[in-house]
Amino acid sequence: MQKNPDGEPLPEAALKDPRQLYDHMRAICPAAHSDGVVTLFRHADVIAAAKDFATFSSAVSAHRQVPNSLDPPEHDVFRAIVDRFFTPERMRALEPKVRQCARDIIAALPMHTVVDAVRQLGYPFAVHVQTRWLGWRGIEETLLAWMAENHAATRSGDPSRTAAVASAFDRITADQIERRRALGDAAACDPTTELMRTRVDGELLSDADIVSILRNWTAGDLGSIAAAIGVVAHFLATHREVQQALREDSSHLTLAIDEMLRMDDPFISNRRVVTAATDIAGARLDPGARVYLNWTSANRDEAVFGDPDAYQPAENAPHNLVYGIGPHICPGRPLATLELVAATQTLLQLTSSIELATEVEPERETWPVGGWRHVPVRLRAAIAR
Ligand code: HEM
Repeated sequence: MQKNPDGEPLPEAALKDPRQLYDHMRAICPAAHSDGVVTLFRHADVIAAAKDFATFSSAVSAHRQVPNSLDPPEHDVFRAIVDRFFTPERMRALEPKVRQCARDIIAALPMHTVVDAVRQLGYPFAVHVQTRWLGWRGIEETLLAWMAENHAATRSGDPSRTAAVASAFDRITADQIERRRALGDAAACDPTTELMRTRVDGELLSDADIVSILRNWTAGDLGSIAAAIGVVAHFLATHREVQQALREDSSHLTLAIDEMLRMDDPFISNRRVVTAATDIAGARLDPGARVYLNWTSANRDEAVFGDPDAYQPAENAPHNLVYGIGPHICPGRPLATLELVAATQTLLQLTSSIELATEVEPERETWPVGGWRHVPVRLRAAIAR
């Protein structure tokens, strides 16, 4: 039986939707100890820890991850490299391809029958956009198979299986690097090639760092985009008035999507390790203590948002933590937003309604992945498609 962070068996409702457990823990135990890790649940505590990188270090894993596991000042150098790939100009140039991917995938979905918004829309859309962006076209099926195995390995909790899946991904990435190296100057100018030509202090990035950067752009984020599409589809299907309003005017779609993800943040948490004794959320943490920043919970904190399930895009935007805060705030947010807006807008344009299917229940993902595993919907076609 699964346990909550205090060691009590989890109530049935919390097993179905972990957000209920987080809402409960935030009220009774904002710094919960479980298996040697402390989870911070409140908005203010999560922000404090995320900003205090000197006390809450990101160097949590045995392996170097660029830029995720680095702390400032080393982090700043690599973060500047990463940020260059997500500028407004780059996003504008990429937008037509992202919209084309959305149109191709959504136009091919069957209408008036059960469609899984996560598996049939979220996964393929995330993979096709990433391969077009990075210049990896042709390996979509490999990446989709890898995503499925990655999810299964994560859920199995078997370290040898997760290690195997991680090295399988490294091989996919290393293959892309080798192909470009073999082509030399003839290699297409895409972000992968560009990374291979990037220098730090006059030295080219090491292959290990290039693989790590690419892994953080793909391995983790394909899943986040797919899960986010599931959250948005579920919200639209269960909030018909919002769906209708967005059909009539989609100019505030970015705010709307950010708010849907705030209520049901699929990117649950990130880890930190304490470097010096500190007090937070009424708990004393010693050096070496492991900490989870629970974004999903912080995004539902009543102290900041009032009713966590009240849809208030404009009011809640300044406090939204879906993309994190502090030095590690998500650099991929512009791309994530571009993808989610393009997919949602296209879905609204090519349909006249999105309803939850009545034949199959939606199924939530399980920790450490948030959001939905399956969102069965029925799409009704817009006029001639
Ligand atoms: C809905 C989609 C996404 C969500 C919810 C999300 C959320 C987050 C969050 C909360 C963090 C902070 C991590 C921390 O503080 O330790 C983060 C970091 C990061 N994200 Fe995202 N992300 C998304 C999409 C993307 C995409 C599309 C990319 C790139 C293609 C990306 C690349 C990264 C990287 C590289 C970091 C680490 C930054 C650093 O350590 O400085 N993310 N993301």
